Amino acid sequence: MKDPVRIAITGGAGQISYSLIFRIAAGDMLGPDQPVILQLLEIPQAMDALNGVVMEVNDCAFPLVQDIVATDDPNVAFKDADFALLVGARPRGPGMERKDLLEANAAIFSVQGKALNDHASRDVKVLVVGNPANTNALIASCNAPDLDAGQFTAMTRLDHNRALTQLAQKTGKHVTDVENMIIWGNHSATQYPDLAQCKVDGKAAFDLVERDWYENDFIPTVQQRGAAIIKARGASSAASAASSAIDHMHDWALGSKGIVSMAIPSDGSYGIEEGIIYSYPVRCQGGKYEIVQGFEIDAFSEEKMKATEKELREERAAVEHLLG
Ligand code: NAD
Ligand code: LMR
Repeated sequence: MKDPVRIAITGGAGQISYSLIFRIAAGDMLGPDQPVILQLLEIPQAMDALNGVVMEVNDCAFPLVQDIVATDDPNVAFKDADFALLVGARPRGPGMERKDLLEANAAIFSVQGKALNDHASRDVKVLVVGNPANTNALIASCNAPDLDAGQFTAMTRLDHNRALTQLAQKTGKHVTDVENMIIWGNHSATQYPDLAQCKVDGKAAFDLVERDWYENDFIPTVQQRGAAIIKARGASSAASAASSAIDHMHDWALGSKGIVSMAIPSDGSYGIEEGIIYSYPVRCQGGKYEIVQGFEIDAFSEEKMKATEKELREERAAVEHLLG
């Protein structure tokens, strides 16, 4: 049996965590041979609810769970953490954009960045799920100067997975037939789900779908899917968000099959400003991700990639005071 790894999850009593914790405990993130220690963080008012979740995890008698820590102290939750999933934050309601949460949630991520800096494993892999995820990841990273900025990522895998299904359904194929899906930019309504490199069953996606569907149906559907779920469910996506968080961490740790989308610190690739947390096409291998280079970008794509970059620069400017 392998040595256990420590997995910190914030917002442990929230709706995403109610799916996420149990799937991680079952081995879905790191495999059926990887024991885990769960380190769950909540705010003091939610500790009773968190203790209820812990009782339920215990009642599952998961073979992989070695220990569970439930705490309202980030310094305890992140102690020696190998993986940190920063989920805890306020979700948006109907009529709000994710960046409306910037003010409410930004402070959380500066505190947690400092705690990660001071207490986590030096190799910690951090995924920010709480919205606005890209800029929250930037805040956390800037408050963790002793960790590498590349250890801080944000989630656009849910957008990626949504896009896979939209295209598979449109072409009458299965999601596993789709290759080279890309989400560029921000996890927001400006994100650019790009089919220019995409193949379905080996054929160029653009030969299978009409341009009108791509521009006026596919792109807005993926961009607005979070809002559509809020409208339908009366609450933001939860099980699908948890599933995509598991995909993101699984692939980062254990390797991806082909190209996946991850929001990571830009290194200037594809003409995007360095430093902002921007979603790129990546391949993962040996616990590392690498941006896939060399795709040709046409004028349509460039405009969309720049629009979402601009929004991220504006979000960064709005939280300048929290960037350490
Ligand atoms: P929720 O309200 O059900 O749960 C959030 C939990 O976080 C609550 O239990 C709350 O007490 C806790 N919390 C708040 N501040 C905290 C802090 N400082 N430390 C620790 N815990 C804290 O919300 P949810 O539906 O689970 O969503 C969580 C976040 O994830 C929201 O910001 C939501 O918008 C975001 N989200 C992102 C994606 C994505 O694709 N990136 C997808 C879905 C949801
Ligand atoms: C989503 O994409 O489902 C989440 O970011 C929740 C939201 O606010 O849309």
